[in-house]
Amino acid sequence: MARRKIVAGNWKMNMTPSQAVALCAELKDLVKSDDVDVVYCVPAVDIVPVVEAVKGTNVEVGAENMYFEEKGAYTGEISAAMLVDAGVKYVIIGHSERRDYFKEDDVLLNKKVKKAFEAGLTPILCCGETLEQREMGITLDWIRMQIKSDLVGVSAQQVASMVIAYEPIWAIGTGKTATTEQAQEVCKAIRDCIAEVYDAATAEAVRIQYGGSVSAANAAELFAQPDIDGGLVGGASLKADFGKIVGYNK
Ligand code: 13P
Repeated sequence: MARRKIVAGNWKMNMTPSQAVALCAELKDLVKSDDVDVVYCVPAVDIVPVVEAVKGTNVEVGAENMYFEEKGAYTGEISAAMLVDAGVKYVIIGHSERRDYFKEDDVLLNKKVKKAFEAGLTPILCCGETLEQREMGITLDWIRMQIKSDLVGVSAQQVASMVIAYEPIWAIGTGKTATTEQAQEVCKAIRDCIAEVYDAATAEAVRIQYGGSVSAANAAELFAQPDIDGGLVGGASLKADFGKIVGYNK
């Protein structure tokens, strides 16, 4: 069965709650789609108003982060149960900005992935190499290491239902997109790694996104690659262009 494309916006630390509601109204008709899943991953304070704003549309809401503990004395953190109760369906885990600025490592991210599944959320697990790693020729080894460590103890059935986002760090927010060949090569390597750790059917089912300077101009070519099942979009998800990315095949 063909995999359904999934295009998710990662708003990062942008949009106040009132700006968020206005953006949802602006994008509402532009992101309508019968064949692409559309997700807005939004800052924590925007979740409640955005869930309300997208009611009755084809848009699902995601969080940009969560903590793995059930509840308790973790000042400033947000639990999976809180997200679920607020109407969230997806959660980004292990974005490179969280790995880098907030020192989240693969042991922590593995706990988050498992907790997300336990709560009924779909993780969008991010991986990606630095420019230095790419130039050293260790990109594929690095990505395989990230994927394998982040998925320890995760079942084949869970992996089949999740989303993995390949985001080369050097392509994020830089306007420097990976070439289509580079993006396809790594997304295929991720799928091969899933086949090796799990099985062919799981690898065939898991959806793999590319992220890093995705735009209205390059989405069609990227998403046409056999192992790229959509995109995780930063800057371009905050404007009308996001509609063109969702409608890449129109
Ligand atoms: P940009 O699309 O702004 O490069 O950001 C990509 C990203 O980090 C999405 O998670």
